[in-house]
Amino acid sequence: MNGKIDQGMAVRNTKTSERFMRMRLVTQRDYEEFVKLHDRVTVEQSEIPIGKSWRISRYEPDREYKPEGTTVWSFPDRGCWATHVGNFRGNFSPFIPRNLILKYTVKGDWVLDQMVGSGTTLVECKLLQRNAIGVDINPEAIMVARDRLNFTCNSPSSDYEEPVIRTYVGDARNLNEVADESIDLIVTHPPYAYIIGYTRKGLEGDISQLSLPDYLRAMRKIAQESLRVLKGGKHCSILIGDTRRHAHYVPLAFRVMQKFLEAGFILKEDIVKLQHKVLTDRGKWRKAYYDFYKIMHEHIFVFRKPSKEEKTTKFKLSAKWW
Ligand SMILES: C[S@@+](CC[C@H](N)C(=O)[O-])C[C@H]1O[C@@H](n2cnc3c(N)ncnc32)[C@H](O)[C@@H]1O
Repeated sequence: MNGKIDQGMAVRNTKTSERFMRMRLVTQRDYEEFVKLHDRVTVEQSEIPIGKSWRISRYEPDREYKPEGTTVWSFPDRGCWATHVGNFRGNFSPFIPRNLILKYTVKGDWVLDQMVGSGTTLVECKLLQRNAIGVDINPEAIMVARDRLNFTCNSPSSDYEEPVIRTYVGDARNLNEVADESIDLIVTHPPYAYIIGYTRKGLEGDISQLSLPDYLRAMRKIAQESLRVLKGGKHCSILIGDTRRHAHYVPLAFRVMQKFLEAGFILKEDIVKLQHKVLTDRGKWRKAYYDFYKIMHEHIFVFRKPSKEEKTTKFKLSAKWW
């Protein structure tokens, strides 16, 4: 599918999805009206200026940068080309979506980030000429994402074609505006249960405020919606970390991985991403000695949706095993 998602066809809404907020389109015009009245938004006590024009010196990483080739990724310099700014709490390094987009898609494909935050994935899609859909439960995050997209792509390549990029306020558990089997790649970074509250207290639908069992139920629903919207044979990648409670390790990432396998995905990759700057509770290390190690890594799981006619028995060791 090039250029347009057919919103009229094959959009399916199960009864369980209906319990969650429906997607509401936020356009460039909405953003322009918003910034007439606001020069900043507040996300988790951080003020993020918006509405100023961008001065961009670089549109891509340094020339020496080579895409990752192993399952250990480390970006001590997180990447600040185009409009990437690290001031949205919990944002990921643009190297992450860039690597995944380059590996699993071609120009004109459709990429989805259904917990898009400040829009890092969308900026990479704009630079790399992939069509994209970004969704977030927090309307202020969507305004930050639109702000990051508010630049002209001065690509050195003369055949640059502006991709279609749509942003929505909505709940990742109900992607009602996204047709079945219409997406070529999902790149997303969910909030972690208990670790960082990304939205104002009480914002309905924010999964970071759920108890662990409810959070895992939400992740199961998100996995099912991801499976529905993805084309057969295509990939879904999520960045997710673990935590510690009472000095013991809580393998949150693996419990989330289980939800994606239960939904019907098979595991293609487990990439370990080293962490260099930790702003979360995990980073509050004040004592000289602890009887455990600091968690300084996260996981990027890449799942694949088997295509309809594919025989999956040979992948049983990479599929749900319990
Ligand atoms: C880790 S942040 C994403 C950061 C993003 N990758 C970036 O680079 O800015 C997680 C996002 O999930 C959003 N979120 C929480 N619950 C959600 C839900 N039910 N549906 C959609 N988005 C949700 C939060 O508002 C937050 O912006």
